[in-house]
Amino acid sequence: AEPQPSAGELLAWYDRHHRDLPWRTSPPMAAKGLRANPYHVWLSEVMLQQTTVQAVKPYFLKFLERWPTVIDLARAPTEDVMAAWAGLGYYARARNLKKCAEAVADLHGGIFPDTQEGLQSLPGIGDYTSAAIAAIAFNRQAAVMDGNVERVVSRLYAIDEPLPGAKPLIKARVADLTPAGRPGDFAQAMMDLGATICTPKRPACALCPFNGHCLALRDHDPEQFPVKAAK
Ligand code: ADE
Repeated sequence: AEPQPSAGELLAWYDRHHRDLPWRTSPPMAAKGLRANPYHVWLSEVMLQQTTVQAVKPYFLKFLERWPTVIDLARAPTEDVMAAWAGLGYYARARNLKKCAEAVADLHGGIFPDTQEGLQSLPGIGDYTSAAIAAIAFNRQAAVMDGNVERVVSRLYAIDEPLPGAKPLIKARVADLTPAGRPGDFAQAMMDLGATICTPKRPACALCPFNGHCLALRDHDPEQFPVKAAK
């Protein structure tokens, strides 16, 4: 049988091929123990929830220039925040953003909680966002799941149970794969892999660090995963 896939192979790929995104702390800085700023990670993850990386970049930079800290954002007039958000869509996100900033400022002294549980007590922060912030900003071993990660994992293990039913199984696989040392880099590497290599159509399997372990590539057509429930 094929040896199991390992986080190390993915992290080696990520060190060479990671996307330079403004909310990331580069791997050399991470090696010195410096993590991405929790405020930056939170802001980017909320913006990225229904919007592409390319569209988010200028908004992210504009927000940080205007409101350099979460306390600045908490004190901003709601109409200014809504106006700055215009164009990103899904405006409930902007209203929740403001409420969450106020909670961090007023209840936590401007410091984001550093556990998934603490993060989930904040307005608008659910499973995905709390896992992403815990892993990326605080290096906690949280299993970060989004559509990209679901696709990568369902192909890697040729999971034939349809989504959304397969989510708990996928989450268990993600948790097993997530390394203790670099959970935040691992999460972002999975997202980058899904966005750039393990794409929905015509995945670039020849370039994939997991191509020696991928059961969908070995036994099937990767494009057939993830399986979607019949409507
Ligand atoms: N999509 C959502 N969050 C992301 C991140 N941190 N890196 C890359 N893609 C993402």
